[in-house]
Amino acid sequence: MSETPETLQLQLRDSVLPNHLPDVEWLLRYLDDGCPSGPPLFLSLGESWPPLHPDLSRLLSQAPDYGHGYQLSMYGLPALRRELRDLVVRTHGLPAGAGDFEVAVTWSGTRSTMFDFGRLLLDRRRKSVRPPVLLCTAPGWDFAGVFEPLGYRVEYVPLDAGRHFAPDLEAWREAVASIEASSDEPPSLIALNAQHNPTALNWGAEVVRGVLRLAVSRHIPVLLDDAHFGVHDPACVPTSSLAILLEELGEAGGASESPLWLAVRSLGKQFRCNGWGLGAITSSPETLDELVNTYRVQHQYNYAGHLQYAMAKWLPRESCEAHLREQNDLIARNRRLVGGLLVSDLGYPPESFSPGECTSFTLFPVPPVYSERPEGTKCFLEETFFKTGVLLSDAWPRPRNSRQSFSLGYARIFIGGSPDDLATAFGRMAEAGIGFDMPSRLGP
Ligand SMILES: Cc1ncc(COP(=O)(O)O)c(C=O)c1O
Repeated sequence: MSETPETLQLQLRDSVLPNHLPDVEWLLRYLDDGCPSGPPLFLSLGESWPPLHPDLSRLLSQAPDYGHGYQLSMYGLPALRRELRDLVVRTHGLPAGAGDFEVAVTWSGTRSTMFDFGRLLLDRRRKSVRPPVLLCTAPGWDFAGVFEPLGYRVEYVPLDAGRHFAPDLEAWREAVASIEASSDEPPSLIALNAQHNPTALNWGAEVVRGVLRLAVSRHIPVLLDDAHFGVHDPACVPTSSLAILLEELGEAGGASESPLWLAVRSLGKQFRCNGWGLGAITSSPETLDELVNTYRVQHQYNYAGHLQYAMAKWLPRESCEAHLREQNDLIARNRRLVGGLLVSDLGYPPESFSPGECTSFTLFPVPPVYSERPEGTKCFLEETFFKTGVLLSDAWPRPRNSRQSFSLGYARIFIGGSPDDLATAFGRMAEAGIGFDMPSRLGP
């Protein structure tokens, strides 16, 4: 069993309510009740607080004194910036010397950089009485949480559960056309997440190219969210939306014609250190300079030099590469394990779900007895948790309090942690009577 129960106590016990998420309310209630179904299995958020790799930990303890003070470059510690540039060039297959992009470090997660990019786009937008529109997928990551507070209206391209959430270029074309028809202007931003959270699908190059060609031809700014680019089953070759975008921009001609764009890539997912907040941000050299030296500096200096130092030293090491391979092997095994247990222990028809091939998540439909009722997914998640201690999330998770209804009828499970925890979780669910054909709800 993982350390999660103790870690949860440490993270949640306070004299204030730690946050407003329903998950937290449920967890505190369950912990207060003395964990009646065993220690909570925290498979919702995508975090299991694993120990840091010993090499990375050693390098962190060797951080030089300058790492503890303010850093001077808004592009990030130069040693890390150069390593990240190499990583982006190598793993996305980009031409090394190309002058049409540059890479910087983010040390406060990629979410904050997206927010800054949203502000930059607003300042560049021509005057309009209409709110800017962000177009992204449903289900999808919480782009709304970043862009709505800036005044963006969010429109969604639906991913069809009947097609196991495979992206459909025609649906993107229709969404863009419908926004243009209703507002006389194209969307202000398209967000693309080709290693897709939560559906775990690696989008094919054809559909990614189609969406990006559409964006470039209409001058629509683009946000490429490559948070999970490094997290995929060994047999999966992640589609590089960044490489495709650069090709499309090259085809379209001069830089003055190009829409603004930003690609973000988190290091937290692949190296299991989400709390370090490190990532790569890539854009045209001009946009990147404006982003880091005008927008980023408005609310943060360059911090966390010690983390940047350790990561810069670790990235080129063989142990780093090996760790990534082991991590991806583990996730692939866990994905197979969960698929097998859904069928063998919970009676799911194999064709009722698609395990996917990337990210540390997989989806499965909630049993029909739940999905047929209003708020059925929420009810399934809540009753499963209080009867088994297994905390899953909605396929459309929200890392903040929102009135979003749980309506897709799918649950998401984190598979980046221990296989024992997953086996225990499915054992508890089967014992409680959860299954595809369960005749009635578990009840409160
Ligand atoms: C699709 C997606 N984008 C962005 C992020 C933010 O990642 P980070 O905080 O590591 O920058 C996440 C985190 O879960 C994610 O899943």
